[in-house]
Amino acid sequence: GKKLLLDCDPGIDDAMAIGLAHGLPELELVGLTTVGGNVELEHTTENALRLVDFYGMDVPVARGAGRPLVRAPKTAADVHGASGLGGVALPEARSKLVDAHAVDFIIDTLAAAPGEISLAAVGPLTNIALALHKEPRIAEWAAEFVIMGGSYGRGNVTPAAEFNVHADPEAAAVAFGAPWRTVMIGLDLTHQARANAPVRTRFAELGRLDAELLTPCLDFYGSHADYAGEGPAIHDACAVAYVARPDLIRTVPARVDVEVHGRFTAGMTVTDFRAEPNAAVATELDVPAFWDLVTDAYRRIELA
Ligand code: BDR
Ligand code: CA
Repeated sequence: GKKLLLDCDPGIDDAMAIGLAHGLPELELVGLTTVGGNVELEHTTENALRLVDFYGMDVPVARGAGRPLVRAPKTAADVHGASGLGGVALPEARSKLVDAHAVDFIIDTLAAAPGEISLAAVGPLTNIALALHKEPRIAEWAAEFVIMGGSYGRGNVTPAAEFNVHADPEAAAVAFGAPWRTVMIGLDLTHQARANAPVRTRFAELGRLDAELLTPCLDFYGSHADYAGEGPAIHDACAVAYVARPDLIRTVPARVDVEVHGRFTAGMTVTDFRAEPNAAVATELDVPAFWDLVTDAYRRIELA
């Protein structure tokens, strides 16, 4: 399958994205790196390890940056709960972290297989920016760079900015500025991926995975005011789905620049569809095929 290295901040939709990456026969997950974001780094890292155990995965986990490059950390505990997984308390992790910082793990993993690995980031872009700074050649080595973040329409933390970009705009600017093939899976796309009642009905057939993780996570996540009515958007799973099945997501070339100064717009991904492109920007999701992909992948997971 296609190789994927996933940088994440679990996070409820991150947890669902990790399960998707694990369950998809199209993908081989070569590592998870953690970053502070939805909750503090100690929680995102512990959650990554617990999820690896829960899903029965054999994948290295490396801990990364706990703070944005220059700004003070801001979490989204209101959306994901204080521990990051809503009310879910998975058993304490047995898996151990690898003995390398996420930044070095990213560099070394990409260096070992140039052109073979897709790098996807579904949290703030801090680790990615630090890795690019330390070893700019990762931009050549990654087969592609897929980011869940930004939007060309509205934001979610502010009217202009999406959480992952807003949390560390300086890092996002570095990531969008690097000369790799960048794919922006922004809110415009991810707000089409709603875990609504029909989706939840399909999840109900998944047994323990649903009872112990999906239902309690989604009940918590879906109770957030942003998601009233339509069901919560499973943002991060869209980035993983893109790597496995790019045919499910329509993209349009565009120039994306990250606003790092604005009084009202810091963290905005200013998207110009007429300028020389530096990214492919996702616009349209094949919604039924996406949920088929997700449920089929979840069905393949054999929980520990
Ligand atoms: C993004 O922010 C986080 O809260 C989610 O995990 C997702 O990565 C959506 O804006
Ligand atoms: Ca995330």
